[in-house]
Amino acid sequence: MNRPGADQPMHTQRSRALGMHLVLLLVTCLLASRLLVAQEAAPAANGSVTPWGGDYFPNTLLTNQDGRQVHFFDDLIKGKVVVINFIFTSCSDSCPLETARLRQVQSLLGDRVGKDIFFYSISIDPLSDTPAVLKAYAQRFKVGPGWQFLTGEFDDVTELRHKLGLFIEGVDNGSNKDHNLSLIVGNQETGRWMKASPFENPWILADQLANTLQNWKQPSIEQSYADAPQIRPPSTGEELFRTRCASCHSLGPQDGQGIGMRSIGPDLIGVTRQRDPAWLSRWIREPDRMLAEQDPIATALFERFEKIPMPNLRLDENSVQAIIDFLGEETERQQTLAAQTQ
Ligand code: HEC
Repeated sequence: MNRPGADQPMHTQRSRALGMHLVLLLVTCLLASRLLVAQEAAPAANGSVTPWGGDYFPNTLLTNQDGRQVHFFDDLIKGKVVVINFIFTSCSDSCPLETARLRQVQSLLGDRVGKDIFFYSISIDPLSDTPAVLKAYAQRFKVGPGWQFLTGEFDDVTELRHKLGLFIEGVDNGSNKDHNLSLIVGNQETGRWMKASPFENPWILADQLANTLQNWKQPSIEQSYADAPQIRPPSTGEELFRTRCASCHSLGPQDGQGIGMRSIGPDLIGVTRQRDPAWLSRWIREPDRMLAEQDPIATALFERFEKIPMPNLRLDENSVQAIIDFLGEETERQQTLAAQTQ
């Protein structure tokens, strides 16, 4: 190690140079990732339309929930508009949320899924997630056709995650398997790929898949949703409910947003009257722990709802209180409305 003195300026210079290098490296990385995520490739001279073809994506051998073997590039993404995410079925937080949300997107897209839009959930825990386990998982979430659940060799799947930009060093290879919470949507033919968060509004995701990525214009689903009258500005509680809870829970017969799609958990109208406030608050904060402790109400609900665990959404007490306030107000509001129209 150099001692202070004559070496000092040299040392400083060196670290400044290193700093510059890091900045340059970062800029390069950012440019590269923007390229991967956003560029719509122009047809290249050799006739191939996209730089991300069979020479970029591995043709990984995977097995789907029906035990059928498929190749990642040739069978799953070549020439297709796709949604890809990585899950493991024993994951109790993020995966159910993401699966529930994707199921909503699938419902919005109707029978286009399986025809011109394809959904793939690939397991990162292939030892536990056999085809039979994946099939049961898909059935619990009432997943329709056109959505495959896949498993393969661990190393191959890891390589795939790297190639899709869905692997973060230090997070995704950590011990708690807490993995990168994003999915990627894209059109292999045009080379247009976009990352999306599981908290993404399902209408926006559906619109990207149905319109933007298909390169044709139709009346946008997003537009008709945006045009719907918004009479009340949403409170913090409502905002939280819509983004964190509404993919699994409906809220009474007056809840217009996507009725019939959100039956993964119970309808929550009146729940503030039905449950003890302390129970309700703790349940929303740490349902996983209450289930582990075999709380009788939690256990009964878990059995009734196909053993899909309600995820721990890491909400603090204030947020939970805001949601509970909203649930209470909405119960009152709908009751008043119902009384008026009788
Ligand atoms: C991934 C789906 C999912 C999400 C997201 C979700 N829940 Fe649940 N929730 C469930 C399921 C499933 C149950 C039934 C119990 C079980 O199986 O664990 C449930 C049960 C409940 C119950 C108990 C209902 C009763 O009758 O007592 C409440 C309250 C509740 N959820 C509130 C929320 C709130 C508030 C949010 C958002 C902060 C939320 N949930 C997000 C799936 C979800």
